[in-house]
Amino acid sequence: MWSPGYSGPVTSPAAVIVLAAGAGTRMRSTTPKVLHRIGGRTLVGHVLATARGLAPDHLVTVVRHERDAVVAHIAEVDPGVVIADQDDVPGTGRAVQCALDALDAATDRPVEGAVVVLAGDVPLLDTGTLVALLEAHEADGNAVTALSTEVDEPSGYGRIVRDADGGVAAIVEEKDATAEQRAIREINASIYVFDAAALREGLGSVGRDNAQGEVYLTDVLALARESGKRVAAIIAEDSILVEGVNDRSQLALLGAELNRRTVHQWMLDGVTVIDPATTWVDVDVELAPDVTLLPGTQLHGATVVAGGAVIGPDTTLTDVEVGEGATVTRTHGTLAVIGPNATVGPFSFLRPGTVLGERGKIGAYVETKNAEIGAGSKVPHLSYIGDATIGEHTNIGAATVTLNYDGSQKHRTTIGSHVKIGGDTMLVAPVQVGDGAYTGAGAVLRRDVPPGALAVTSGTQRNIDGWVTSRFPDSPAAQAAAAAEPPTEQHGVDE
Ligand code: UD1
Ligand code: CA
Repeated sequence: MWSPGYSGPVTSPAAVIVLAAGAGTRMRSTTPKVLHRIGGRTLVGHVLATARGLAPDHLVTVVRHERDAVVAHIAEVDPGVVIADQDDVPGTGRAVQCALDALDAATDRPVEGAVVVLAGDVPLLDTGTLVALLEAHEADGNAVTALSTEVDEPSGYGRIVRDADGGVAAIVEEKDATAEQRAIREINASIYVFDAAALREGLGSVGRDNAQGEVYLTDVLALARESGKRVAAIIAEDSILVEGVNDRSQLALLGAELNRRTVHQWMLDGVTVIDPATTWVDVDVELAPDVTLLPGTQLHGATVVAGGAVIGPDTTLTDVEVGEGATVTRTHGTLAVIGPNATVGPFSFLRPGTVLGERGKIGAYVETKNAEIGAGSKVPHLSYIGDATIGEHTNIGAATVTLNYDGSQKHRTTIGSHVKIGGDTMLVAPVQVGDGAYTGAGAVLRRDVPPGALAVTSGTQRNIDGWVTSRFPDSPAAQAAAAAEPPTEQHGVDE
């Protein structure tokens, strides 16, 4: 039994054809099946990335169901893909014929050599498995080499029918199979290498005389065999690699398995993961050695985390860059940059455009958006900082809000370095606070504050002695006041 593993360059195939024209009805979805996602990528996105790993001369995808949506997505993830439209003749054989026709139209001469065919709904297939398949195909001089696997529950799949010498005689679809054939547990994964000439020749004589009235690609194997060519099937030991998604349950299953493998690999690469089962890492995320992921962490998209950073628990970051040694606790963040040794959370909401400098802090119950917060600056508690620039080593008092929206337009707040903004300050944008300025608690700042100034906007405090006792005599408050010791020290007495 061979085990997959990328062993270096083999001859690149002339073409890879990805089949993605099917309807995927069992997904019961308005989204085409191949556009459902696991690990942060669509199913077809996974297959195209795997196919690209082979460096084929041509990469073709066959589309039909929800054609425009699928084509638009493919153009985004891999603009080099040739699109082939399947006509209204159904079946995998027809799909491959349409791919060959599209390739002929797009190139000067017909494709020759190895043509790899993949199903667009098999997301865990890896390049290493395909390299091994191609190697076997070349080494044995096969006309067709199929990838098969053995499963306990083969129903729904095409069965690999082997003859006495172990060679592949045919692939028989479930609906066309005899009772004896249905008992076969070796199934066709719908992943093949064909010799281009044998493929064309076979497709030229495949009919639709079967239970489904479809042009079966699988019939090419029996035809090649009948005309004396070598046909083989290689058994993939790890069946999950060749499993297709047909419904949402399989989508979740393969998604979990992909994540298990991704997280496992990161652990081998030096990332501490306290609870792999509740840690979700998309395939495009990058983690440095000595990152620690606490339970309930989800890292999505192009998130990058530098060494020594601690993320979680219960943190979701999408397209976020986290610097060395930063800690991010119980936080939800998107398109944000967290500087080295900065601290974020718990319960912080970082929206797009948040940039927190080195050793900066975004603390509990703070929401930020389009906010540059400089090195060493702190927004520790209960604040909203939106459309703002804050310099270095500035402290923002608890419950401060940048009022960026005047009802029709957004405006910017600019706060300098070494500034102290008092608690509960409302900054009515556009407004600027200069370097080294202080502002009093509860200020509503509608005008700029010059560097080094103190801005106060609240009125002078007035104490009305005995007010509670005369208004609510005998109340618990009045009794508490009567029993109180006279204050030994008076805070904030007017000068
Ligand atoms: C096919 C194989 C079967 C194999 C199974 C593995 C044939 C005749 N049968 O079954 O032996 O066990 O895959 O899942 O090939 N597609 C098209 N155009 C079509 C039909 C299908 O592009 O007209 C694409 C689908 O989008 C999908 C792939 O081909 O990506 C497989 O189609 P699906 O309907 O899932 O498989 P079957 O044809 O039932
Ligand atoms: Ca089918």
